[in-house]
Amino acid sequence: MLSTQYIMILVMVRNILFLVLGIIIGVRLTDFVGYLKLWRDNDIKASEKAALLKYPVATEEHLAIWLRREVRILCLVLTMPSSHSTKAARVNRTWGARCNKLIFMSTKTDPHLNILKINISESRNNLYAKVRTGMGYVHKHHLNEYDWFLKADDDTYVVMENLRLFLYPYDPESSVYFGCRFKSSYSQGYMSGGGGYVLSRDALRRLNLFALNSTTTCKLNGDSEDVQIGHCLQDVGVVAGDTRDFQGHHRFLPVSPWTLIPFIPYGSWMDSYFFHQPNRSDCCSASAITFHYVKDIEFEFFEFFLYYLRVFGLHRTQRALPSRLGFRQMNERLQYWAHQVADHKG
Ligand SMILES: *[C@@H]1O[C@H](CO)[C@@H](O)[C@H](O)[C@H]1NC(C)=O
Ligand SMILES: *[C@@H]1O[C@H](CO)[C@@H](O)[C@H](O)[C@H]1NC(C)=O
Ligand SMILES: *[C@@H]1O[C@H](CO)[C@@H](O)[C@H](O)[C@H]1NC(C)=O
Ligand SMILES: *[C@@H]1O[C@H](CO)[C@@H](O)[C@H](O)[C@H]1NC(C)=O
Repeated sequence: MLSTQYIMILVMVRNILFLVLGIIIGVRLTDFVGYLKLWRDNDIKASEKAALLKYPVATEEHLAIWLRREVRILCLVLTMPSSHSTKAARVNRTWGARCNKLIFMSTKTDPHLNILKINISESRNNLYAKVRTGMGYVHKHHLNEYDWFLKADDDTYVVMENLRLFLYPYDPESSVYFGCRFKSSYSQGYMSGGGGYVLSRDALRRLNLFALNSTTTCKLNGDSEDVQIGHCLQDVGVVAGDTRDFQGHHRFLPVSPWTLIPFIPYGSWMDSYFFHQPNRSDCCSASAITFHYVKDIEFEFFEFFLYYLRVFGLHRTQRALPSRLGFRQMNERLQYWAHQVADHKG
């Protein structure tokens, strides 16, 4: 009797041991597979690969390199012939160079820029048609090569690394788009065009399937480009996501830092536009993504302060990637965003 109990206890202990062992091996294997995944890629440069190999633990810098391939972003930038050698050239050599692919939408080609020539007359009223054509082109030729599709202006500045970090948790196969959300006659509002907005692959698919080819949905009207795209996306079931950080600071900014520092002013035109009134205790999120009305040498200022200047002794904490949302979590998030209501004027 006693010995049977004894044996049962032994068996139990053995089973628990195996269970623990199994878990440990499982976790290690997952790590290992994750590690292998890092090497799947061919477009990591040799020098970057060497840097990755040198350290057993990925640093934030390495994660950013890895993210470049994991969160693939095609950038569509609106420009026009008179800005090719000025604004567009600056975008091309600053943040645009960090896109996985960069395409300018203009009415003339240029040997120095990757331009999608759109056969339309250059006018503010034609911006929606221009962007629609650009989106249609990208859908036809690049849909499966990229995960997210960013539309920006040639006076927008985008911190691409922060954009990738922000997008990482979200599934590009869900119907969502992000940007600086403005209020409008539609419940979801729309995303400011100058602040830049980014469509998931599925959002682009829907835009193309239901809107771009249709003569009834998303008809051309007198509204501006961003309003028409926003309304169109709501019509085809694409949810407007929330891009604020945990303290309510905005990440997509529709104006330049000159206007926003030291804090987002009260009483400006933006008050009646913001869908979510920002946290005005200071300017913007520490993980801000876009600024608008950036001009001339300011592009280089951004580059200098963001990518070159280092402050001695400034402690930068190691940051891990957030986890990716599963199918159910993603849907819950979409539901939550879809039911958000606009704040009253701040
Ligand atoms: C734009 O970038 C590409 C690739 O880096 C480069 O070949 C081209 O010369 C650039 N164009 C201008 C106008 O700076
Ligand atoms: C450009 O548009 C005009 C007017 O819509 C048309 O006549 C012309 O054939 C178009 N050109 C090309 C290359 O598609
Ligand atoms: C939309 O129209 C374009 C040509 O304008 C065509 O190539 C494409 O196949 C159409 N897409 C659908 C889903 O009908
Ligand atoms: C606004 O931001 C400050 C930090 O800048 C933070 O302390 C505060 O909690 C935030 N307010 C809200 C409502 O999140």
